[in-house]
Amino acid sequence: DEGKLWGARFAGGPSPELAALSKSTHFDWALASYDIAGSRAHARALAAAGYLSDVELAGMIGALDVLEADVVSGSFVAAESDEDVHGALERGLIERAGAELGGKLRAGRSRNDQIATLVRLYLRDHAGIIAERLIALIDAIAAQADAHPTAIMPGRTHLQHAQPVLLAHHLLAHCWPLLRDLERLADWDRRANVSPYGSGALAGSTLGLDPLLVARELGFADSSENSIDGTAARDVVAEFAFVAAQIGVDVSRFAEEIILWNTREFGFVTLDDAYSTGSSIMPQKKNPDIAELARGKAGRLIGNLTGLLTTLKGLPLAYNRDLQEDKEPVFDSVQTLEVVLPAFAGMVATLRFHTDRMAELAPQGFSLATDVAEWLVKQHVPFRNAHEITGSLVKSAEDLGVELSDLTDEQLAAVSPLLTPEVRSVLTVEGSVASRTGAGGTAPDRVAEQLAALTERVRAL
Ligand code: ARG
Repeated sequence: DEGKLWGARFAGGPSPELAALSKSTHFDWALASYDIAGSRAHARALAAAGYLSDVELAGMIGALDVLEADVVSGSFVAAESDEDVHGALERGLIERAGAELGGKLRAGRSRNDQIATLVRLYLRDHAGIIAERLIALIDAIAAQADAHPTAIMPGRTHLQHAQPVLLAHHLLAHCWPLLRDLERLADWDRRANVSPYGSGALAGSTLGLDPLLVARELGFADSSENSIDGTAARDVVAEFAFVAAQIGVDVSRFAEEIILWNTREFGFVTLDDAYSTGSSIMPQKKNPDIAELARGKAGRLIGNLTGLLTTLKGLPLAYNRDLQEDKEPVFDSVQTLEVVLPAFAGMVATLRFHTDRMAELAPQGFSLATDVAEWLVKQHVPFRNAHEITGSLVKSAEDLGVELSDLTDEQLAAVSPLLTPEVRSVLTVEGSVASRTGAGGTAPDRVAEQLAALTERVRAL
C-alpha cells in the first residue's frame, strides 16, 4: 500500500490505535521541503555511485521538483494513511515518477538519518530568521538609548534605589545579553553544520554512497564522523532549545521591567496604543500584554528545553522512537520566538519615556551616598571610615526626613568635620553619573562609546 514504508513481514496492517499514536504528519510536514531537498541530494549520490542512470536521475529530479511545487501549492498533502512526512512524500514521488523509478530512491538511506538531517536543516534556517529578529530588537533598544543620551534614572539593586544611572546605560544592559544570544546562535551553528545523511539506520551503508556529496549539496560543511552518533544524537536540538530558552529569559527580564515602569507608581513609560491592549470590562485600562506574553512564554520555552532533555536522558544508542518527541517542542520554541520578538521590538521602538519622572526619583532614597563615601576616599579617608561617616549622614537625613542634598552645612559638619561644604559637588545625580568614567561605567562618554561598540559587534556577526 502506497505511503507505507514497511509491512511485508507483518501479517496485517497496524491497529488504528497504533496508527493514531505513531502518526507525525501533523507536525513533521513542516519538514517536507527539507525532505525533498534531501531526496534530490540523495538521488545525486545514488547516481554518482551508479544506481541511477543519467536519464533516471533527470526523471527523479523532475518528479521531485513537481512534488515540491505541489507541496508548496497545497495540492499535495498528507493522507490519513500516511504515517509520517517521509512515507507521504515517497507516495507522492511514486505517483509522479512511477513505482519503478520512485521505488529506487530509498536505497541506502533510512528515516533515521533523514530525520536527524532534516531537523538540522529546519533549525539552521530558523536560526537565521530568529537572528534577524533579535537584531531588530537590539536595534530598537539601542535606538531608544541613542534617543535618550542624558536622561538619568534611579538604578536599582534588590529593586531598591541604589545609584543613579543613565537610562541609556540601563537600556544597553538589555542589549548585551541579546548580543550574546546572537553569538550563541552563531556558535551553535558550528555544531549543527554536520550532516547525518548517509548514516543509514545506524551503521552506514553498503552501497558506496558519498555522505559528503549529500552534505555539501544540503549546505553542510561536513558529514557525521560516526553513523550511530549521526542518527542517535539530539544534543544539537537540545542546545538550540537552550538558546531559545535563554533568549526568552533575557527578553522576559526586560518585559518585567517594562511592566513595572508602566505602572502608575513608577510612571516611567507610556506604551503606544498599537502595542497595548484594553480590558473587556474596565474601559480605562491599557495593559502591557506584549510584555506579559513575552514573560509568560519564557516559561514555555524553558518547558520545551526541559521536556526535550528529559526525553533524551537514559535513551540507549542508537535510534529510538522517543526521538520523534524532539520536534514538537523545538518547533514550538521557533514559532514562539518568531512571534514574540517582532511584537516586543515594536513595543520597545514605540515606548515613550517620562524622563522627568525618572529624574525626579533618581536622587531619592539616598542614592548619592556612595558618591559621598567615594568623595571622602578622594580626601584620603579610608573607605571603612568613609562608609561609616556616610552611613551616619544617611541616618541623620532619614531622621530629619530630608534628602542628603537638603542637609545644611552645619548638619553636615555635625556628622563629621570631614564633611565640608565641598561635598555638595557630588550631591547631584548629573555629577554622580558624569563621574563614573571607568570602563563600562555610566558616564555619558562611556555610554556613547558603549553604544558604538555594541553596534560594531552586531554588525560584525
Ligand atoms: N518520525 C521519526 C522521528 O521523528 C522518524 C522516522 C523514524 N521512524 C522509525 N520507525 N525508525 O524521529
